[in-house]
Amino acid sequence: MAARALIGLQWGDEGKGKMIDILAADVDLVVRCQGGSNAGHTVRVAGESTVLHLIPSGILTDRAHCVIGHGVVVDPGQLLAEISGLKERGVNVDGRLSLSGRAHVVAPFHKVIDGVQESSRGAAKIGTTGRGIGPAYTDKVARCGIRVMDLLDESVLRSKLTASFEDKRARLDLAGDTSDAEGTLECLMEQGRQLSPYICDTVQLLLRARRDGKKFFLEGAQGSLLDLDLGTYPYVTSSNATIGGLATGSGLPPTIIDDVVGVTKAYSTRVGAGPYPSELHDDVGQQLRDAGNEYGSTTGRPRRCGWLDAVALRFAVDVNGVTRLALTKTDVLSGLDELKIAVAYDIGGERTTEFPSRLADLEAAQPIYESFPGWSEDISEVKRYDGLPSTLREYISTLEEMVGIPVTWVSNGPGRDAVICR
Ligand code: IMP
Repeated sequence: MAARALIGLQWGDEGKGKMIDILAADVDLVVRCQGGSNAGHTVRVAGESTVLHLIPSGILTDRAHCVIGHGVVVDPGQLLAEISGLKERGVNVDGRLSLSGRAHVVAPFHKVIDGVQESSRGAAKIGTTGRGIGPAYTDKVARCGIRVMDLLDESVLRSKLTASFEDKRARLDLAGDTSDAEGTLECLMEQGRQLSPYICDTVQLLLRARRDGKKFFLEGAQGSLLDLDLGTYPYVTSSNATIGGLATGSGLPPTIIDDVVGVTKAYSTRVGAGPYPSELHDDVGQQLRDAGNEYGSTTGRPRRCGWLDAVALRFAVDVNGVTRLALTKTDVLSGLDELKIAVAYDIGGERTTEFPSRLADLEAAQPIYESFPGWSEDISEVKRYDGLPSTLREYISTLEEMVGIPVTWVSNGPGRDAVICR
């Protein structure tokens, strides 16, 4: 194996952090390629739960070198807090973390603008995480963004900040924000000084590692249905959470990826606004939220919950070229009499099994379900696949037929070791 990629197949929060723990144990480098501190991977360090937003979860493996690639937008204050939090818990970070100088910076004013834009959207709010992600990527695409390497160059940083404040003043005023170029310069320069030991040309680092035959793990963030191009636009994030984002955001060629692991929950969730055909607004939805502790790890917001959607899942599997599935949180379904999977949509009287590109079609889509019997027993201590209830195994084998690839891992409890590998 040269490179394994891990991709979320729903709207994020599929349980990728736990799978990374297992799947990145034997690799040399773990790379984050897109997104920013909108992501939140909950991991356990020294008996305590920690949420990593920017540092790849691979930092908790024994030996992997972790890289924050140029496709990530980096909030320097958040990154410094994560580094010091890990160090306090005895995690070895120095010498094991590299930050791309090409990555773009999320400055404090990006977060303010994120809030201003959300307010101005009114009922069409996206429900962003408020972490400044969209505004930072907007500046990147408009070719006026601040890059991490600029934090080490006072004159470049001053001129970019001066231009940025001129451009954004009216919107910052709307939020009553009085920050200015000089104050922001001072803060970012200081953060740049503290981050300087980690900053380098990560593309060259990765290409050297490739020449040396090292093994890579490309860690996706968010989920395929939040992808800027392929997701439920405009209710998406501002980066490519599908497979292409891993190549463009790292500088590694796509041809080195030889294993694409897709992660999906055994049901579905979504945070923020946007179409969600298999959403449940009833007691079953609430039961999934309670049993699955479905509250955002970045914002604490209650997640919307629903049945597994095989139409959306097949689309995500196909566009990413997923080779194997990890099915997470199966234990959350314990105790339900009946389970359902959406197998098709009815859109205006027409049945389709293809995930629509038009927002209006997605909003109108009525799921057509196939039902399965549930199971009542606690499965979180089961260690072997054949020890799982036959009804769960039937649910899994039908799902495999629906999406055309095998389920290789079944996560059946919150514990780090509660994953059955088939
Ligand atoms: P943004 O990425 O903060 O701009 O938010 C855009 C949309 O993506 C909102 O619906 C967020 O709730 C959602 N989102 C962004 N990152 C994540 C994530 O890591 N997990 C789940 N939802 C996310």
